[in-house]
Amino acid sequence: MTEKKLRIAIDGPASAGKSTVAKILAKDLGYIYCDTGAMYRSLTYWAIQNHVDPNDEPALMDLLKSMELEFSPSMDMQKVFVNGQDVTEEIRQTDVTNLVSAISAHEKVREELVKRQQKIADAGGIVMDGRDIGTTVLPDAEVKIFLVASVTERAERRFKENQLKGITTPLDVLQQEIADRDYKDSTRAISPLVQADDAILVDTTGLSIEGVVNQLKAIIAKK
Ligand code: DC
Repeated sequence: MTEKKLRIAIDGPASAGKSTVAKILAKDLGYIYCDTGAMYRSLTYWAIQNHVDPNDEPALMDLLKSMELEFSPSMDMQKVFVNGQDVTEEIRQTDVTNLVSAISAHEKVREELVKRQQKIADAGGIVMDGRDIGTTVLPDAEVKIFLVASVTERAERRFKENQLKGITTPLDVLQQEIADRDYKDSTRAISPLVQADDAILVDTTGLSIEGVVNQLKAIIAKK
C-alpha cells in the first residue's frame, strides 16, 4: 500500500478494538505490531506473582528492571514472554485487568516502559497501540488514530470475547469495569488517555472490524 516505513499510533479507551485492527493493519502492511498494554499488564502480572505491593514504586521498578519482555508473533495472536515464560493468557485475567490502571499510573514505571517502546519503534514500520502513543511515546508518528466506541458496545464486545474463553462476568459488571478503567486512565496525572491534537478520531460504534480497518487504510494511504 505504501513504500514508506510509517509509525502508526493507535490510542483509545479499553475495548475500543485497538488491538484487533492494529494486528490486521500490521499484517497487511508487513509491519511490526506492538501492544503496549501487554507491557503494563506483564508488569502487573509479575508484581502479583512476586507479591510486590502495587503502590510501592521503587519495588515495582526493581522488578521491572529484572524483567525481559518479549513479543513473538504467531499465526493470529501475539505471544508475550516475561523472562522466557509465556504469559499471554495470564495477563488477560481479571485480577490483572483490575490492577493494571494502578500500576500504570506510576511515573517511573511509565518512563521505563516508554523508553522500551520507543526503542521497539525506532526503525519505523510499526503499528503501536496504547493510551499515550500519539501524545508521549511517538509524538512525531506519521499516522495517529484515536479509536473510540460507546461503553455499551465495548462491554458487549468484551462479553462476546469472554464467552469464547469461558469467562462468565455479567454484562452490567463489564460495563462498570470499562467505565471505571476509562475514568482511571483518563484522569491519572502522568500521560493520561487523551486524544493528541493531530490524531484522527474514528468512532467504531456500529462498525464491523473490516469497516474500521478500511477507514484506517484510507487514512494511511494519504500519508
Ligand atoms: O490496552 P489494555 O487494556 O491491554 O491496557 C491495559 C492497561 O494498561 C490500561 O488500563 C492502561 C494501561 N496502558 C497505559 O497506561 N498506557 C499504554 N500505552 C497502554 C496501556
